[in-house]
Amino acid sequence: MSQNQFNKNTIKKIIKTEVIGSEVYYFDSLPSTQDKARSLAVEGTPEGTIVIAGQQTAGRGRFGRNWHSPVGQNLYISIVLYPDRWMAQRLSVIASLAVIRTLRAMTDVEVVGKWPNDVLLNGRKVAGVLVESESTANSLNFAVIGIGINISFNLTAFPDIVSTATSVNHETGLNINRLQVLQEVLTNVEDLYSKLRIGTSPLQEWRASMSTIGKEVQVKSGDVIHHGVARDIDDEGNLLLQEPDGTHVTLIAGDVTTQI
Ligand code: BTN
Repeated sequence: MSQNQFNKNTIKKIIKTEVIGSEVYYFDSLPSTQDKARSLAVEGTPEGTIVIAGQQTAGRGRFGRNWHSPVGQNLYISIVLYPDRWMAQRLSVIASLAVIRTLRAMTDVEVVGKWPNDVLLNGRKVAGVLVESESTANSLNFAVIGIGINISFNLTAFPDIVSTATSVNHETGLNINRLQVLQEVLTNVEDLYSKLRIGTSPLQEWRASMSTIGKEVQVKSGDVIHHGVARDIDDEGNLLLQEPDGTHVTLIAGDVTTQI
């Protein structure tokens, strides 16, 4: 299938999942798939609704950073879910794991997780995950998982990330079609989400896929920089860091940036 045939019809044809992708919205261009998914969630769109864009003009990453989203071969996906709080705390883990499983199945190169939820290919960031939710005092209204995967990306046009980021086709020398990646990612999200529903934690698989454990790391949390050895990930995905004086600190995934 030609790389150009990326539209609602070609996307619907490759979907093998039942819940994730139950409704498909495709746009050639959006400011951010996250915002469109949020407004659909507010209207009560079915669980598993996906929003995909060919490009984003205001794609965002964690901590309000920009997520470069040029037109072409990268994937920009948002998925609407209605989880309970226990499940919601684990959504970024299942999204990262879904990408890791996908890229391990489709490539021969090293794919690892970097805490809290980046995916690295040959040591460089190839994908990012952003989970946003809306809740009231008593209930969680909805959550949106955003996944960006660099598949074929001319990084030289983006000097701010050229030394830290990469793309699937650049690292593998392959010409992987984004529809294939999308199909696998949705299948893996569905598998992991259905397991979450019955209370199965994805933490063990996530921990095993991470490059961070046992390493000396530097973690920036607001204005504070923590140094130490990353000892473990707890059941909620927090990093347990042992500082040089032996003190253990627990760093919450949402608040920190890791530089390894
Ligand atoms: C990060 O690593 O900082 C997270 C990046 C998340 C990017 C995706 S692309 C699809 C969705 N729409 C957005 O605006 N952001 C997420």
